[in-house]
Amino acid sequence: MKEIKAIIKPFKLDNVLTELHKIEGLPGITVSDIRGFGKSKGKGAEETISEGLHELVSKVKIELVVSDEMAVKIVDVIQQSAHTGNIGDGKIFVVDVKEVVKIRTNERGEMAI
Ligand SMILES: Nc1ncnc2c1ncn2[C@@H]1O[C@H](COP(=O)(O)OP(=O)(O)OP(=O)(O)O)[C@@H](O)[C@H]1O
Ligand SMILES: [Mg+2]
Repeated sequence: MKEIKAIIKPFKLDNVLTELHKIEGLPGITVSDIRGFGKSKGKGAEETISEGLHELVSKVKIELVVSDEMAVKIVDVIQQSAHTGNIGDGKIFVVDVKEVVKIRTNERGEMAI
């Protein structure tokens, strides 16, 4: 199982969700409003928010835990649907997941996703 964490431009969220909804068997998704910076430390063409001494850029984080097979497809869909080609398009991190527990049923592993 893999956890896919994608940090994207907020205005791309609708498009990314539309494309993800087309994938059969999509188990679930968590979306958060976040702030951060990349290599340019928030400076450049993007609108930044001052936090004390530092500049941060508003982003959206999408998190999904899926089977290994589905992860490949989902990464491709997010990369394509979140892409503008401009700086600050974001990143996709893929992390191995050891265990999932579905609280209602106590199912474990892929059954619980
Ligand atoms: N290595 C990282 N670890 C954790 N979060 C990151 C990392 N790199 C980027 N982020 C997050 O992703 C957001 C978008 O990053 P961004 O796309 O600006 O990366 P970049 O390397 O600066 O690329 P670009 O040159 O396209 O701007 C950042 O605001 C930050 O929240
Ligand atoms: Mg950047």
